[in-house]
Amino acid sequence: MKKKTISGFSKLSKRGKIRWIVENFFKDPEAVARELKSYWLNNEEQQKILDGFSENTISNFHLPFGVAPNFVINGKAYAVPMVIEESSVVAAASSAAKFWMKRGGFHAKVLDSKKMGQLHFSWNGNVQKLQAVFEELKEKLHADTTHITANMVKRGGGILDIDLIDFTNQEENYYQLRVSFETCDSMGANFINSILEEFGRSLQAFMATHPIFDEAEREVDIIMAILSNYTPECVVRAWVECPIEDLGVFDGKMDAATFAKKYAKAIRIAQIDPYRATTHNKGIFNGIDAVILATGNDFRAIEAGGHTYAARDGQYRSLSSCKVENGIFKFWLDIPLAVGTVGGLTKLHPIAKRSLELLGNPSAHELMMVIAATGLAQNFAAVKSLVTTGIQKGHMKMHLKNILVHLEASEQEEEAATAYFENEVISFTAVRNYLNSLREKKFKGRKVLVEPQE
Ligand code: MEV
Repeated sequence: MKKKTISGFSKLSKRGKIRWIVENFFKDPEAVARELKSYWLNNEEQQKILDGFSENTISNFHLPFGVAPNFVINGKAYAVPMVIEESSVVAAASSAAKFWMKRGGFHAKVLDSKKMGQLHFSWNGNVQKLQAVFEELKEKLHADTTHITANMVKRGGGILDIDLIDFTNQEENYYQLRVSFETCDSMGANFINSILEEFGRSLQAFMATHPIFDEAEREVDIIMAILSNYTPECVVRAWVECPIEDLGVFDGKMDAATFAKKYAKAIRIAQIDPYRATTHNKGIFNGIDAVILATGNDFRAIEAGGHTYAARDGQYRSLSSCKVENGIFKFWLDIPLAVGTVGGLTKLHPIAKRSLELLGNPSAHELMMVIAATGLAQNFAAVKSLVTTGIQKGHMKMHLKNILVHLEASEQEEEAATAYFENEVISFTAVRNYLNSLREKKFKGRKVLVEPQE
């Protein structure tokens, strides 16, 4: 009898966890257990490090670690590490990097690097009294957290500002302290959350004792204290620009001026239509997330903040913009990127550490610029394909490769199929039939060599 639930799973050893999983959820327990274990690292120390990042680990889930070379950003050359499972993304980033390398490279600047946090609380009192003593409260909040902020202040960071936001017109008795921080080279999550929790205790002590408040106003209920992943003032801009004629000819037939016009129109469409904007920004995040993952940063935080930013005026829009003016083609991306190059996984994950080394151990600001340039490159490559050849041409080439691997094609068969499908429509069936025809020719008499799979 299979058991689909368990108590005490976390207490089992790794082998015990695998045993329970395979015996209760798989048809072939022995084979699955062997396979899961085959992905354990040989180096026990390194495996321990990986296991330490999460809970209930039973194996490792591999993703390709690729590199996109030839990124010239503000005149400096980078080979950008990218972790992504989607085919064509690294190739697209590399080709866009090479394209722009010959046209002045990428430019980037950090517009600001403020991180945000919030202390949410309920309070039933006269808000004017709280406003009247708010400067006093702020001093106390700063003073009560110097033990947490001292080191960050030495590095040039710390608490920047504290605002009181009154939400009582939307939710009874609800206020928040909205706090901005500079966290230098760290993403700052632990720093910010520790300060906010301390703020909660300080606020309660302040309200309980300050003479301005009546007895009935002394109690503050702390709802929660947590950073915000929306960081509209932790934004980096990356851009490319060149004279229109320097763009060259596309796909052997589209001249530069036609391309520039069509390209700008495609970006405009992504600004006015949320359906297109979502796919368009997905393309940007293909590049962004890949570098975020490779450098041990938090891609969920970056995605969440990026999408909110894309909807900051009330409608979800493209994160990138394009201008064709006075003979110049300019394409740029503004994106919030709250990243770190110290702390978190950045130095603990052995490959993330190597990724940062590959980038020359950048500061958080430099990393923001590299990531934004990669997002822009990805976006450029995708939209360039869309308005010229169409996306399927490149995608299907990779798809063909995957089908050939799946059908265990030999090197010669792969070569022949690649040439044959240059001008043919690629589908699993078409490739299977083509391989069969090749194999039939080779081994006369044997019939269907590759079984239908669909
Ligand atoms: C696919 O992963 C990304 C694209 O759909 C992006 C876009 O449409 O701009 C190609």
